[in-house]
Amino acid sequence: MEFIKVTEQARPQVALIQLNRPKELNALNLQLMGELRDALKELDDNENVRAIVLTGNDRAFAAGADIKQMAGKTAIDMLNIDQFSTWDQIKKTKKPIIAAVSGFALGGGCELAMTCDMIIASETAQFGQPEIKIGVMPGAGGTQRLTRALGKAKAMEMVLTGKFISAQEAEKHGLINRVTPVELYLEEAFKLATEIAQLSPVAVKLAKESVNRSYETHLDEGLHFERKNFYLTFASEDQTEGMNAFVEKRKPTFTGR
Ligand code: CAA
Repeated sequence: MEFIKVTEQARPQVALIQLNRPKELNALNLQLMGELRDALKELDDNENVRAIVLTGNDRAFAAGADIKQMAGKTAIDMLNIDQFSTWDQIKKTKKPIIAAVSGFALGGGCELAMTCDMIIASETAQFGQPEIKIGVMPGAGGTQRLTRALGKAKAMEMVLTGKFISAQEAEKHGLINRVTPVELYLEEAFKLATEIAQLSPVAVKLAKESVNRSYETHLDEGLHFERKNFYLTFASEDQTEGMNAFVEKRKPTFTGR
């Protein structure tokens, strides 16, 4: 891997992926996104990993898709390369992914953070979709996910002007989970990931899938999906263990079976 660093056990059962093109502010070129896709697939299949933290560095989570790589392309080149198809793996990942964001999260960088399940941001984080300023528009979910998180008026303003919002503003509007001092954002993401990693992986997987369904569908269909997944948790040993431990007043041990 040239443009990302993967640590399988950054904390017990928690993996870390760090975007690693610091000079280019982690601009998301095709190779980086291919590496990210492969790493996520591997970690999702790895039984020793229960949650994933995705980060950049203090100055930039990512400043967007690589403009230099795209600048000379035609529409047909873009259609043929179909660069956003590698992004599908992020959405397909069944384990929880927490974005730990500091500095710039712009364009594809903002979209990448929003594709994760939760976002912990440092107080220096800035979120924005500045594509409009270079004559294009968001292409990896920005117009959809920002609008769902912030509402139409705020999202429209950000997408049509390219203005950034601060971490504090992002928190106020529910785009992110919380803001920490810059020294603590990664640790806070590990803390959240570790908390989740101690729970039943079966229940976590089904619950993540169900919350995502609410985001993507109508209420009736979402409720139906949630109910099925709830019943399905009763096929796991973790359900028996979790409920028995409660009754027996002891701490449960979850195995993912
Ligand atoms: N693509 C390629 N290179 C980038 C980049 C990007 N998105 N963002 C930054 N860089 C490069 C710069 O070209 C520069 O490289 P050189 O030193 O070789 O010139 C290096 O990273 C450092 O950047 P700056 O010197 O510009 O740093 P700054 O602190 O002055 O400004 C910034 C920081 C405001 C983030 C500015 O770099 C910037 O505006 N970047 C582009 C942001 C943007 O428009 N993102 C959207 C991209 S399109 C997209 O993402 C489409 C989509 O929907 C997926």
